[in-house]
Amino acid sequence: MGRVIAIANQKGGVGKTTTSINLSAALAEKGKKVLVIDTDPQGNTTSGFGLDKNELENTIYELMIGECETNDAIVKNVVEEIDGVDIIPSNVNLAAVEIELIDAEQKEFILREAIGKVKDDYDYIVIDCPPSLSMLTVNAMTTANTVLVPIQCEYYALEGLSQLVHTVNLVKDRLNPELEMEGVVFTMFDSRTNLSLQVVENVKEHIQENVYKTIIPRNIRLAEAPSYGMPINVYEPKSAGAEAYRLLAGEVIDRKFD
Ligand SMILES: Nc1ncnc2c1ncn2[C@@H]1O[C@H](COP(=O)(O)OP(=O)(O)O)[C@@H](O)[C@H]1O
Ligand SMILES: [Mg+2]
Repeated sequence: MGRVIAIANQKGGVGKTTTSINLSAALAEKGKKVLVIDTDPQGNTTSGFGLDKNELENTIYELMIGECETNDAIVKNVVEEIDGVDIIPSNVNLAAVEIELIDAEQKEFILREAIGKVKDDYDYIVIDCPPSLSMLTVNAMTTANTVLVPIQCEYYALEGLSQLVHTVNLVKDRLNPELEMEGVVFTMFDSRTNLSLQVVENVKEHIQENVYKTIIPRNIRLAEAPSYGMPINVYEPKSAGAEAYRLLAGEVIDRKFD
């Protein structure tokens, strides 16, 4: 059965989307079948895979409000060069979903309901969360088996982390007893500065969670790839960024939960 990983951090700009895209593509490169779910109304994961956000008939929005079936919301084989990456895309319409579903029953479980039908078709389901601890993030966490938290190597890295861990624990207690912390992954590590190293050491001292050994470097190719609609292992397969996400994918595959 597939493992569902929510990529979450309520801070924006920490590398959630970059990790969602490139971890998924790296898992697929290793022969895994992956479904990526974009739950951010900004739709950056959607466009990062080369889809036109404004030309989509069905998205996560239509799926959540019950206007389409799960299979109709899935865009299959979104990466031409690598088999096995499917996506449920998103666009700005999703911004209204919280208000529209305000009176819905069991609204914390809408995504889980929808994904249950296709879960067994995939080895991994990777959910890119919006930069908030909103109903969409809660839906991601009730659907997920684990939560992976990208942490940017910058001065305020720890800020908000305890709130996020608290939210994960609340969801675990009340809504999804099986939820586990996948762990944290450091992103945008700059080897030319002491700051990055200090941040990594400092965060490690302050958290109990699993820390992935792979550290994602700051790499200009990673920032460029989305504008070409490609994951890094297609855009620049030999770049430091591509290598790092391959290593991370290997670690994710090796990490066992009971
Ligand atoms: N390792 C990296 N090296 C260089 N740029 C990066 C890296 N990771 C992310 N970025 C860039 O930083 C910005 C924020 O990253 P993103 O993944 O969109 O964060 P989030 O989804 O958490 O808001 C984007 O412009 C992205 O291209
Ligand atoms: Mg994002």
